[in-house]
Amino acid sequence: MKPKFPVIAGFILLFVPYITYSADFLIQTPPKSLDKYYSERGKTPEWIEQMRHISKSFGATFIGMDQENWESSLKSAQDFGSAYQKAAEMVPEWKELFDLKASENFIANIKMQNAEPAKQFRDKVEKTCSQCHQKHNISVWVRYHWPSTQTIKVLDPIDEQELDYNLFMHRLSSSFKNIEILFEQEKYTESWQAIEIFSKRLRGLRSVCAKCHVTEWSRNSTTIKDFFVGDDMVDSLQQIKKTFASGTPDTKLFRKKMEHISEQSCKMCHLIHQPAAIIQRAWGKTAHHP
Ligand code: HEC
Ligand code: HEC
Ligand code: HEC
Repeated sequence: MKPKFPVIAGFILLFVPYITYSADFLIQTPPKSLDKYYSERGKTPEWIEQMRHISKSFGATFIGMDQENWESSLKSAQDFGSAYQKAAEMVPEWKELFDLKASENFIANIKMQNAEPAKQFRDKVEKTCSQCHQKHNISVWVRYHWPSTQTIKVLDPIDEQELDYNLFMHRLSSSFKNIEILFEQEKYTESWQAIEIFSKRLRGLRSVCAKCHVTEWSRNSTTIKDFFVGDDMVDSLQQIKKTFASGTPDTKLFRKKMEHISEQSCKMCHLIHQPAAIIQRAWGKTAHHP
């Protein structure tokens, strides 16, 4: 009986990291001490600068090893070692996720020109990179790279009220549904009016993009507003109205165009933008962009 326990304990320890990254995967707010490395807007965050430094010096070390240029490899490895250690100190909450011992051994083996052990320690260090990225990148992106919808107001063109983004979405959604409900009730005049209201709201959403998309696409003939809220949506509505005006509403065309809007506008935009908004909502109001 006696020897069994250590075996099981070893087995469990071996599998702990995998358990952590699957069943228990949590997207929590990043540690507080990271905030200060993301505080200057419009500038590459210090944390990213540090990561790039780590990445470049780490890569340069391998090139040196491959070329058996040990002197150059050692120089890069030492540069890497201090950058890696600095990163570990920048965010004390993440210190455990760095393997400074492996990094030291990596450098020591390059110094001794021991290629095989150096490679083994390199792999060990590399594991710490991807483990941390897998665990924390999403939360870092949601916190620092996604502006919050919760501070955005949208002007509702129907009653000219400034609304919270989410409330505007609910109005947009109900005006979209009204089109279909009234169509099915064969109330074509009312359905036409619902199209007008929906169309105004959808176009109203165009003014919102620029609150987050500040620089993108500016040098391009396509603008960000050609996506999800572009002229193809307005055209689809226009074509439905045309069949209303002709006196013979076309059910097939109606379904096709409504489906187009539902998939290419609502759904596509949600697939891109909603995950971040949902996570931020779960974190609560305190977790806004600094
Ligand atoms: C303790 C956590 C942690 C460790 C360890 C770590 N990183 Fe990172 N790294 C991050 C986070 C978080 C980001 C995302 C930063 C962002 O997008 O704002 C990142 C981003 C990066 C990037 C992308 C930078 C860019 O231009 O956007 C590179 C490259 C990178 N890390 C390389 C490495 C390498 C190489 C190692 C290991 C030698 C490593 N990292 C170790 C947390 C870590
Ligand atoms: C709350 C902020 C926010 C709003 C509002 C917003 N976006 Fe985005 N959107 C983002 C972020 C962040 C990304 C990720 C990539 C990036 O930063 O461009 C993104 C990505 C996209 C992408 C994917 C590729 C790319 O070019 O970045 C498209 C397309 C897009 N948005 C279109 C729109 C349109 C159209 C609107 C307005 C109707 C809009 N967005 C409104 C924050 C926003
Ligand atoms: C510019 C991108 C974009 C477009 C286009 C868009 N939405 Fe949204 N929608 C969002 C985002 C982002 C949220 C989450 C807002 C939040 O949580 O703060 C959202 C939230 C919603 C919600 C609230 C969900 C909930 O559970 O609270 C509804 C309903 C909704 N959208 C319906 C629609 C419909 C219907 C359309 C198409 C006619 C549409 N949206 C078009 C981006 C968009």
